[in-house]
Amino acid sequence: MDTNFITNDKIIYHQQQLGSWLKGQAVNPITVEIHLTEKCNNRCFYCNYEKSNKEMCFKDFKKAVKKLSEIKVKGLIFSGGGDPLLYAQLSSALRLTASYKIDAAIITNLLSEDAVKFQAILKNCLWCRISLDSSNRSVYRKIRGTDSFDRVIRNINSLVKMKKKEDSSTTLGVQSVVNRYNYKDIFDEIKMVSEFGVDYFQIRPVETKLNERLKYSKKQYDQVLDQVEKGRRYERRDFKIIWSQKWDTLNPYKKNRKHGFSFCHAYQMILAIDVSGDAYACCHQIENKNQELLYGNIFRQPIKKIMSCRKEKIKKIDLTKCYLECRASSINKYLEKFKKTTEHKNFL
Ligand SMILES: C[S@@+](CC[C@H](N)C(=O)[O-])C[C@H]1O[C@@H](n2cnc3c(N)ncnc32)[C@H](O)[C@@H]1O
Ligand code: SF4
Ligand code: SF4
Repeated sequence: MDTNFITNDKIIYHQQQLGSWLKGQAVNPITVEIHLTEKCNNRCFYCNYEKSNKEMCFKDFKKAVKKLSEIKVKGLIFSGGGDPLLYAQLSSALRLTASYKIDAAIITNLLSEDAVKFQAILKNCLWCRISLDSSNRSVYRKIRGTDSFDRVIRNINSLVKMKKKEDSSTTLGVQSVVNRYNYKDIFDEIKMVSEFGVDYFQIRPVETKLNERLKYSKKQYDQVLDQVEKGRRYERRDFKIIWSQKWDTLNPYKKNRKHGFSFCHAYQMILAIDVSGDAYACCHQIENKNQELLYGNIFRQPIKKIMSCRKEKIKKIDLTKCYLECRASSINKYLEKFKKTTEHKNFL
């Protein structure tokens, strides 16, 4: 299978937005991340999102998705915050999204067992990424704070079985965020995940800010790389290992670590909405409820008003507070390079 769905150049498929952006005109978001709930049944030590019992009222979700369709949003990612599978009306939310011809996708810990929601995912989502981080109960407990490894594995198996039965085309992936508890576990994870029947296994670094120390020593990083190389033997036509592009910057051999862009050019192309309907520049701004990059509330305000304040708001961005290899870093690098090359565009 082709794994080009996780690349930095997908923006080229949005020629109209790209053209408008180049001319300095306003562009509406292409992809939006939405948090339906702040409830979570894991307690991952590296997760910085606030946890609470707050949930999005379904009536408000309906309002939000309608407004997003009016500005022709193309893709909606259900993530968290908490875990989207815990949201009671998830199936209806996915169906409604698809009915507006917006592509839906979900990122989940797949801890809740719910055949109806699994079916709704397989029917309405283009992709589903499952966060696992470990190959066994003990590592899972250390990272994800609960003793639920066996249940997640059972659920992955059910989802894969259901996908085959329903002949669903939803891309299924498993992800591991490398950290101090699992950096020796990567080979075992690759081997285990290769047997699940999912489409890919992605290996990502823990998020790190510009001025923070890297989370990996050279020795640990080398150990991870070594396991990935050994694990490549399990790759098949229908199972790929994805080494995240984020490692280009977040590896201990990289000198002069920096963002690789001077501004968040992608701020118009992405958006993130929290459980209360607050619309932020990106998911990371939800994490710290950054009021400077909060555009407005999608439940209470006209979408046009939210869109029109973005240009002023983004002027306050402080890149030193943004993660290296953040949500839009690869798009930002691409756009910055693109803008520069257009200066001599007639010399092919
Ligand atoms: C915030 S979670 C929300 C969805 C769901 N609860 C889950 O765990 O998949 C989305 C993804 O972000 C990842 N994540 C959370 N905190 C992170 C961090 N500090 N660095 C890297 N990835 C992180 C999680 O592992 C998960 O794959
Ligand atoms: S990463 Fe996901 S599962 Fe883990 S605590 Fe955060 S929201 Fe919950
Ligand atoms: S974290 Fe990245 S996507 Fe978010 S505002 Fe900063 S540069 Fe933009």
